[in-house]
Amino acid sequence: MRKKIVAGNWKMNKTLQEGIELAKTINRQVEENEVIIILCPPFIHLSEVAGSITKDALFAGGQNCSSEASGAYTGEVSAEMIRSTGAEYVIIGHSERRTYFKETDEILNKKVKLALANDLIPIFCCGEVLAERQSGKHIQIVKSQVEKGLFDLSPEDFRRIVIAYEPVWAIGTGVTATAEQAQEMHKVIREHITDKYGNEIASNTSILYGGSCKPSNAKELFSNPDVDGGLIGGASLSASDFMGIVNAF
Ligand code: PGA
Repeated sequence: MRKKIVAGNWKMNKTLQEGIELAKTINRQVEENEVIIILCPPFIHLSEVAGSITKDALFAGGQNCSSEASGAYTGEVSAEMIRSTGAEYVIIGHSERRTYFKETDEILNKKVKLALANDLIPIFCCGEVLAERQSGKHIQIVKSQVEKGLFDLSPEDFRRIVIAYEPVWAIGTGVTATAEQAQEMHKVIREHITDKYGNEIASNTSILYGGSCKPSNAKELFSNPDVDGGLIGGASLSASDFMGIVNAF
C-alpha cells in the first residue's frame, strides 16, 4: 500500500527560535495514524527540528541538497550532512530551485542519486509553468521532468522515491489546481511510471500535490484516487493550518 504523506516546505521562513516552536507545537498535535508528516525547515533548523520529534508519524527533511558529495563547494550542504541530523527526507527539484538557481534535470538527477546513496528519501518535484499549460505542453513537460530526473534509477531505488506534482502557476499564488487537474496529472505520472517500472512499483509510489493547498481545499484534492497527499508551502507555517491539512485525510 502506498503511503499518505503531508510534507511542509517552510522555504526561507522562520528564525531558529520560531522554527523550533512550530516543530514542537506540531509534534504535540500529531496523532499516530497512517499519515506520514514531514517538516522541511531551513538547514539551520534541521538538526534541532529533527531532534525535537518524538512521534513515529513525524519526520524531518531538507529542502535541497548539493549535487556534490563533499569538498570545496562553499555554502553547499551535502546529502550526507542532512542525513546526519536525523532527517530522513529531502525535497529535490522544487520549481524555485529550478527557476532561481538554474537547477537542470541533469543536476537534479545527481542530487537524487546522492540522496538515495545517503539513505534519504527524495521528494522529487515536477510541474509546468502557466505558459506551458496554456500551450497544451504541460503533460509532455512533466513527463520529461520525471523521466530525466528519475528514470535511470534501478527499480529498487525508484521504490524509495516520493513525487510531488506542483503546477508552478499554483505555488504561492492562491490559485489551486482543480481536483480534476490534479487527478489528471497524477494519473499521467503514475501511468508513466507503470510504463517504465511496472504496475506494482507505480501503484506503490506516493504522488503528492503542491500549490496553494489549504485546509479548505485539501479534502477535495486528497480524495482523488491518484493524489496521495500534499507538499505544503505557505500553510505549513502555521501549526493549525498545517494540521488542518493533515486532518483532511
Ligand atoms: P504553496 O507552496 O503551498 O505556498 O503554494 C507549495 C510549495 O512550493 O511546495
